[in-house]
Amino acid sequence: MANDIQYFELNTGAKIPSVGLGTWLLEPGVVGDVIIVAVKAGYRHIDCAQLYANEEEIGMALKKLFSDGIVKREDLWITSKLWCSDHAPEDVPEALNRTLQNLQLDYLDLYLIHWPVSMKKGSVGFNPENLTIPDIQSTWREMEAIYDSGKAHAIGVSNFSSKKLGDLLEAARVPPAVNQVECHPGWQQSKLRAFCNAKGVHLSGYSPLGSPGTTSPKTDFLKHPVITMVAETLGKTPAQVALRWGIQMGHSVIPKSTNENRIKENFDIYEWSIPDDLVAKFAEIEQARLFTGIAFVHETYGAYRTVEELWDGGI
Ligand code: A2P
Repeated sequence: MANDIQYFELNTGAKIPSVGLGTWLLEPGVVGDVIIVAVKAGYRHIDCAQLYANEEEIGMALKKLFSDGIVKREDLWITSKLWCSDHAPEDVPEALNRTLQNLQLDYLDLYLIHWPVSMKKGSVGFNPENLTIPDIQSTWREMEAIYDSGKAHAIGVSNFSSKKLGDLLEAARVPPAVNQVECHPGWQQSKLRAFCNAKGVHLSGYSPLGSPGTTSPKTDFLKHPVITMVAETLGKTPAQVALRWGIQMGHSVIPKSTNENRIKENFDIYEWSIPDDLVAKFAEIEQARLFTGIAFVHETYGAYRTVEELWDGGI
């Protein structure tokens, strides 16, 4: 039956809710209300990151939700991410503590290395001169220590290619539980998903709606004839079809919205499903990566001279 994809089980045994609220670009002044609306609408999974510069306001909203008795801490799934300028082993625990303090939490459900890219400590923005050579294994050892301490109940990575994930899995004592990557009908990640499945790493999909508004209208797959046909056939919206496709493919999705109706719409993807013959049609959608990571590559600085190197060819 289709009404059963509320959670995915990670290799830790924990259950990650299949729909989470993304918080990238949700500005302070807005994000707090959005969190409250989303949790009241039923969301139990919030995807955060230090980079998004809004964790303090998210923390205040969470505190209010707890003190008003709307939800308990243990019923929420909170993810955050280690930024590239905190990869040095001595900086990792401090970065986590900062995030926990801002979010007003004792622990995270999931802590991710945000990118396989390192920057000088304290650097702000995306100046290529701040790029350094990552030592993911040393950073990961600190992530493992965080896992051991209980301050993050699961640890993982984000924006890792199969190659980088495979290298990490070989060296890791605690295997990553999640690889959070761009994933949607316009960038379906078939190969990476197969690799993650084979290795027991859960794939979580960011920009599951293709981030309309921040990306080129040319790549707005919500208007693609296959998506609109499936939406019309099922009496759902294109966004719901894109999100439902994601959870049917086995990955969690973290759509963002500031609009109450769309926040609710994006959560209303249970108790119906896309039949197999219509899922097969998604193969007709042209594939393009929207977030190439161009800001992380440079001829001279950092570890990757080209986006092909960043993604190990998967571009
Ligand atoms: P808005 O905040 O006005 O709802 P993604 O999660 O892929 O990054 O996409 C986020 C973008 O998609 C935001 O600009 C958001 O705008 C828009 N969006 C969110 N939900 C929907 C929806 N149900 N239909 C159309 N656009 C949506």
